[in-house]
Amino acid sequence: MSNVQIPAGLKELLQGYTVEVLRRRPPNLAEFAVQHFTRILESQRNEQRAKKRSSKPIRKGVSFETNSNKSNKDDEEVQEEEVEEEEEEEDTVKCTTGKYSRRVSVCAEAYNPDDDEDDDSEPRVVHPKTDEQRRRLQDACRDILLFKTLDQEQFSEVLDAMFEVLVKPQEHIIDQGDDGDNFYVIENGVYDIFVQKDGVSVCVGKYDNKGSFGELALMYNTPRAATIVATEDGALWGLDRATFHRLIVKNNAKKRRMYEAFIECVPLLKSLELSERMKIVDVLGARAFKDGEVIITQGEKADCFYIVESGEVKILIKSKTKASLQENTEVEVARCSRGQYFGELALVTNKPRAASVYAVGETKCLVIDIQAFERLLGPCMDIMKRNICQYEDQLVALFGSSEDLKH
Ligand code: CMP
Ligand code: CMP
Repeated sequence: MSNVQIPAGLKELLQGYTVEVLRRRPPNLAEFAVQHFTRILESQRNEQRAKKRSSKPIRKGVSFETNSNKSNKDDEEVQEEEVEEEEEEEDTVKCTTGKYSRRVSVCAEAYNPDDDEDDDSEPRVVHPKTDEQRRRLQDACRDILLFKTLDQEQFSEVLDAMFEVLVKPQEHIIDQGDDGDNFYVIENGVYDIFVQKDGVSVCVGKYDNKGSFGELALMYNTPRAATIVATEDGALWGLDRATFHRLIVKNNAKKRRMYEAFIECVPLLKSLELSERMKIVDVLGARAFKDGEVIITQGEKADCFYIVESGEVKILIKSKTKASLQENTEVEVARCSRGQYFGELALVTNKPRAASVYAVGETKCLVIDIQAFERLLGPCMDIMKRNICQYEDQLVALFGSSEDLKH
């Protein structure tokens, strides 16, 4: 043994793994090792990509963030180009287990956005799960907007690839400025969001037992835009960068093609730059409602914003002040049809929903979560606030008072 050469870096690599095991106490050491070393490999690749990028004279990916006058086609090309670039650098690690007949890959970034047919020969990431884990995962993913436009097969691939991450209070899941490794879906726990403003870390919001984060760095190949810190024990489901690219980013190119024309016609979004509107498309989800189905319930906590894509909704208010109305009687105050929005009031005022909203006939809405609403719709705030003043006038006309808006 005395003349066996220990490869450079081996000791540090194994020490790093041991420290992570002691810190996170994963239930399955082998599975955790795969995740841990995949992350290291990914970050090595990111470094290589960054070096390669900095040696290129023009990089479209950078201008996505900074040049807001670029055309949508350019933005789409950026995503597609980046994926193609990764494809060139492909250096896939594959392993086959006796138990699972499918090929298992831990770092598969192979994806051709022009190839609409799902190629079954593409390597896939599969993290085996118990039935109980799968059920919890499915519950956590039910309302994740980024998954809403996936088809059944794609959604199932996403679920296969996700892995459980248990977190402790004060644990940093993501640090602003880092390279992106995973996208996370929350199963439970409360997570603070911090963003550096003028060198100071400011808490700009929190995730309370639901939602998802970590999509931006993976979508746009940018550094992490915020720090996410667990405030209590929690459970997350991670999705590796490669699978996120292959399924979600690929789907985003399609989403842009699908919604581009519609989003252009939404009056509220007219003041935004084209690239800003496309960022909204990237994170939105689509939901269909049956005739009479409740979309929003008055008095409930709010976590998203809606734009009617097709059909119609009616907005009803239960007056707490109008004595002549029987308790629980709802009065229709407005209707919204294609291109109009609703559900902004509670997000802007940070109060419970001021009205209930029901579908009239088969209705489809585009949905944006509160974090994306705050991040992307700031420039439209003046228009929304002006319209909110009109609600008050409307209520005064109907009930003789606007007290119902002031919970
Ligand atoms: P990403 O940049 O990959 O990592 C940090 C994540 O925080 C980011 O993706 C978003 O998912 C999430 N986030 C929530 N609020 C904000 C915000 N105001 N600015 C930037 N990121 C945010
Ligand atoms: P929000 O309170 O989040 O949820 C119910 C939505 O109904 C509300 O946001 C507005 O978007 C919409 N709405 C339309 N007209 C009114 C009105 N007169 N009063 C309150 N909400 C209204």
